[in-house]
Amino acid sequence: MPRHLLSLFDLTSDEIGALLERGVWLKKMKRSGKEHRPLKGKTLAMVFEKSSTRTRVSFEVAMYDLGGHALNITSEASQLGRGETYEDTASVLSRYVDGIMVRTFEQTRIEKMAKTSQVPVINGLTDLYHPCQALADLMTVTENRGNIRPLHISYIGDGNNMANTWITAAIILGFKLTISTPKGYEPEALVLGKVKQGGYPNITVTSDPEAAFRGVDVINTDTWVSMGQEGAGEKEKKETFHPYQVNSKMLALAKKDAFVLHCLPAHRGEEITDEVMDGPQSRIFDQAENRLHIQKAILEKFMS
Ligand code: CP
Ligand code: NVA
Repeated sequence: MPRHLLSLFDLTSDEIGALLERGVWLKKMKRSGKEHRPLKGKTLAMVFEKSSTRTRVSFEVAMYDLGGHALNITSEASQLGRGETYEDTASVLSRYVDGIMVRTFEQTRIEKMAKTSQVPVINGLTDLYHPCQALADLMTVTENRGNIRPLHISYIGDGNNMANTWITAAIILGFKLTISTPKGYEPEALVLGKVKQGGYPNITVTSDPEAAFRGVDVINTDTWVSMGQEGAGEKEKKETFHPYQVNSKMLALAKKDAFVLHCLPAHRGEEITDEVMDGPQSRIFDQAENRLHIQKAILEKFMS
């Protein structure tokens, strides 16, 4: 049975630590221009049911740099769009390729693919989780602060796939995490249930926006309207979310050396201001770059 990466729960704390170290090493390799081709002759199928810039390009460049090849498959241009099942699609793809990266809607879709795939399936974002993004975020934290465990990290905004994934990271790694979302926009009940069940005193979920800034080391945010949620009620939603914006006034409440992360794409002037995004406390573009390096560490681990 192949090993899949459907959520961070598929990794142990030690494995996450090793991936982050490897990502930093792979970044140095890339900068030095030295060749490193452990995936020579291997192919990754990238299945996209939603748009992507970073995930698509970083996985494709990562496969090329590691000596392999990546194929881009969209639902519209494949038989998925005409109703071929996820199970059959994965059965067939896994007879051609050595790994499958999937970006889709419900987590059950990727779970169906993992059930029949003979090769590793990697989650490139679902409505529930975005584990590859969180690993790039954690790598950025490591680069800036070394050890993650003693830090206070926050996530402010919509209780979406990124909020859910930060909770899974805090469950596994044990750092202090504060999630601040408006009432009615809390993280997924399934994920909150795990927190309740496990009794994790390091994780707080609140509707107080200031709690995501006061004395915090790292502040994360994300779009208020995720892919697939566009449409009705967007205007009201933006009004509700306005107090949850990452701006200079709020950032002043955090530790002096605190920094800000955003998985991107950003909606400048909504969840984050230009001033913060382009300011000295932003590590957002390093974070985006780190998608490439951590993707390589993930691909090496799951496809070698
Ligand atoms: N952060 C992220 O996953 O970006 P894309 O949607 O551009 O892939
Ligand atoms: N929460 C966002 C993340 C985009 C990378 C979305 O799902 O659209």
